[in-house]
Amino acid sequence: MGILDKHKVLEKNATLLLIGSLAVVTVGGIVEIAPLFYLENTIEDVEGMRPYSPLELAGREIYIREGCYVCHSQMIRPMRDEYERYGHYSLAAESQYDHPFQWGSKRTGPDLARVGGRYSNEWHVDHLVNPQSVVPESVMPKYSFLMNRPLESTYIGDLMSTHALVGVPYTEEMLESAQADFAVQVNPDGDWDGLLERYPNAVVANFDGQPELTEMDALIAYLQMLGTLVDFSTFTPDESR
Ligand code: HEC
Repeated sequence: MGILDKHKVLEKNATLLLIGSLAVVTVGGIVEIAPLFYLENTIEDVEGMRPYSPLELAGREIYIREGCYVCHSQMIRPMRDEYERYGHYSLAAESQYDHPFQWGSKRTGPDLARVGGRYSNEWHVDHLVNPQSVVPESVMPKYSFLMNRPLESTYIGDLMSTHALVGVPYTEEMLESAQADFAVQVNPDGDWDGLLERYPNAVVANFDGQPELTEMDALIAYLQMLGTLVDFSTFTPDESR
């Protein structure tokens, strides 16, 4: 009696076959899942990635509050039509500090994963105040009210602590200087050396051109850093994983 004959027993008995299938799926599942419990991190570390600066983080909150993700994705897929239009495909590490992530799949407007540095701050102000003034056929809504909404740093420390709680590596020093870093990022005449040391590549500018710090400043600070942290002229994927 060969092994194939024994197999008949399984095939003729539905209950046995079910138990057998469950056993196979269980073993397969354990082999796939168990290692994840022992790995520290499943995301490859990439040079340049850092947590959001306080102002960028505040801008990100506004991005989420206003539902920009309803029309914009933030993930460049590794396909030719994507990376030729938007730049290098997105890396997992580039959204490792995003809670919640903003990948999305709805693209009424273009992907924003690498929009940082593509336009001037003035362009962003004009565009957000009245998108049709720069792109006449645009269906994007106007966000001019953001210019009139002053932004306080009252809760920025709490916001950062919350992100730290879910794993974003904000240091004690970053939390202590949160208020100062928040304010100095819109003040090109200020002393922003510390800010840039803690958050390399952060853009320092009076983003909306108004004396007051507004929600517009924060949103543009966020947009201007998107996709700018990793230097793709030197980046090589870790093939050992
Ligand atoms: C109803 C859909 C919709 C919503 C909501 C929306 N956008 Fe847009 N967005 C568009 C469309 C369409 C375009 C392309 C035309 C244009 O540039 O205005 C665009 C373009 C852009 C661009 C230029 C991108 C590029 O590479 O040229 C930026 C930046 C942008 N949007 C930011 C935002 C932000 C920030 C918000 C939220 C405050 C937002 N959008 C909300 C539809 C939308």
